[in-house]
Amino acid sequence: MSILKKIKELKELFDSDYKLLIENQLDVTFIFNKYLGRKGLLNTLYPLLSKSNKEEKSDFGKKINDFKQYISSKLEKDLLINDTNELKSEIDLTLPESYQSHGSVHPITLIVDEIKNIFLKIGFSSIYGPEVDSDYYNFEALNIPKHHPARDMQDTFYINDNILLRTHTSGSQIHFMENNKPPIRILSPGRVYRNEDISVRSYCLFHQIEGLYVDENVSFAELKGTLEYFAKEFFGSDVKTRFRPSYFPFTEPSAEMDVYWGLNSESDYRITKGTGWLEILGCGMVDPEVFKSVKYDTKKISGFAFGLGIERIAMLKYGIDDIRLLYEGDSKFLRQFKK
Ligand code: PHE
Repeated sequence: MSILKKIKELKELFDSDYKLLIENQLDVTFIFNKYLGRKGLLNTLYPLLSKSNKEEKSDFGKKINDFKQYISSKLEKDLLINDTNELKSEIDLTLPESYQSHGSVHPITLIVDEIKNIFLKIGFSSIYGPEVDSDYYNFEALNIPKHHPARDMQDTFYINDNILLRTHTSGSQIHFMENNKPPIRILSPGRVYRNEDISVRSYCLFHQIEGLYVDENVSFAELKGTLEYFAKEFFGSDVKTRFRPSYFPFTEPSAEMDVYWGLNSESDYRITKGTGWLEILGCGMVDPEVFKSVKYDTKKISGFAFGLGIERIAMLKYGIDDIRLLYEGDSKFLRQFKK
C-alpha cells in the first residue's frame, strides 16, 4: 500500500477517534499511545518510507511529519499533552498557580509616602525639582559660591562645567520660589547624587525630602515645633529628639535633628557610633542671601527649610544593615515590603 493512502486511512481513523475523545468516550492516554506511542500507528509508516524511491522519500517524510504535527497539535489544543509530546500528569490544568507574583512598593517609596502624608496634614504639598540641574541652582543661589569649602562635601557628577547631577534637594527651593510668592509650604522628595565610595553605609545616589516654609514672621520655634510634630507622628509619641547647632551656607542659624535610637543591640552601637542618637535631618532658618537670589523682600519675609535623609530612616525602620540592598532590585528583598 502506498504511503499516501496509508496516511489518509490513518487520518480518518484518528479523526473518528478524536471525535470520541471530545465526546469523552475515549481516553487521551489511549489515543496518544495508539498514534504517537513507541508502538503507535505512526511508526508503521517508516518501514514503508525506506522502501520508497529516492525522489519520493523526502516528500513522504514531510507528509508523515505533517501528519504527526496534525495529531499532536489537536491533542495539544485541548491542553492534553505538552509540546514535547509527553503526556501531562493527571493534574487539574484549570487550577490557578499556587504562587502568584505581585509587585510591591519599594521601601524608599513607602517612607516617602508616609512622610508626605504627615506633612500633608499640616498644609504642605509636594513638588518636584530636576535631578539634572545647573551649578547655579544646586550651589550658587544657595549661597555656596565657587571655591566655597562646603562644595568639598558635595562632590558630584558633572555633565559639563555648568550642568550636574544635584547633590541635594535644596535646589528645588530656588526653582519653586522663583515661580511662586509666599506663603509657601512645600515638600520636595527625590533622588540626589554624590561622588562617594560605595559601602554598606553610603552609595553614589540616595534620596532626600526637602521641606520649605516661607511667610512673614516665621520663627525658629515654628521650625522646631514642626519637626517635633513630624518625629512624633513618624516614630511614635514617646520619641526623644534633640537639636544640635550645625552649619549650612543656605540657612542661618542651622541645626541638625537627632532621634534617640537607643543602645539595645550591637548594631545600635554601630549605627549610632556608641551615642544612641541618630542624625536624621539638617535644617535652619533660610539665609537672607537665598531670599535675595529669588528677589524676595528680606525685611518682610522669613522662613525655614529642612532636608531629611530617606535611606537612613528606611534602614532604621526596617532594620536594613546594608544600604546597597535598597538599589539592587532583588525581588526576594523587595517582596518583604507590603503596604
Ligand atoms: N541640603 C542639606 C544636605 O544635603 C540639608 C539641608 C536642607 C539643610 C535644608 C538645611 C536646610 O545636607
